[in-house]
Amino acid sequence: MKKGFLVSFEGPDGAGKTSVLEALVPRLQEKVDDAIITTREPGGIAISEKIRDVILDVEHTNMDEKTELLLYIAARRQHLVEKVLPALKAGKLVLVDRFIDSSVAYQGYGRGLDISAIDWLNDYATDGHKPDLTLYFDVPSEIGLDRISKNAEREVNRLDLEALSMHQKVRSGYLKLANQESNRVVTIDASQSLEKVINDAYQVVLSALEKVEK
Ligand code: TMP
Repeated sequence: MKKGFLVSFEGPDGAGKTSVLEALVPRLQEKVDDAIITTREPGGIAISEKIRDVILDVEHTNMDEKTELLLYIAARRQHLVEKVLPALKAGKLVLVDRFIDSSVAYQGYGRGLDISAIDWLNDYATDGHKPDLTLYFDVPSEIGLDRISKNAEREVNRLDLEALSMHQKVRSGYLKLANQESNRVVTIDASQSLEKVINDAYQVVLSALEKVEK
């Protein structure tokens, strides 16, 4: 791999993408020579983690929807320039837990903000950088929310507390997105057992990397 490779992990809350991402690293590291880094949005670096705290604070119930969007976008910009782009330049495999598609799915389809404005803001914040590959972990909202409520170790954030209807809109937004950008986004059935989901994700990433190396 010469130029680095960016894989984003997307999905509704409770899809299990974070556990999959963590489990993939040692398995992928056996196969690829390049260094692998994992990171997340919003967050991943000090400034963006602070923005994350502001966005997800359960007490911030009065946060305006456009303010929320702009904070995600600001966190994205700083994280990209400070961490993601330098890692890609160094030829690393970067696995990022959420990226541009989360804003489209949550603030666009979920909150109902203008999707063309979100596309523009994403483009502006990333200078047009898109993931080389996106894994979309699809799970029905009821299952996702049930998993969250049973996972005592997981932080409960402001967006988790949204109504089921918002989570359903987010999921159907992701499904549309995956359909529209099928050359970049691969859908994985995240309602299966964790082991099976990890295995599916591993195969998809590996075959994408093999294609680049050819
Ligand atoms: P996480 O729980 O996967 O770490 O993500 C935190 C929450 O932020 C999750 O509910 C999804 C949400 N989110 C957005 O609404 N828009 C975004 O652009 C991003 C990156 C996350």
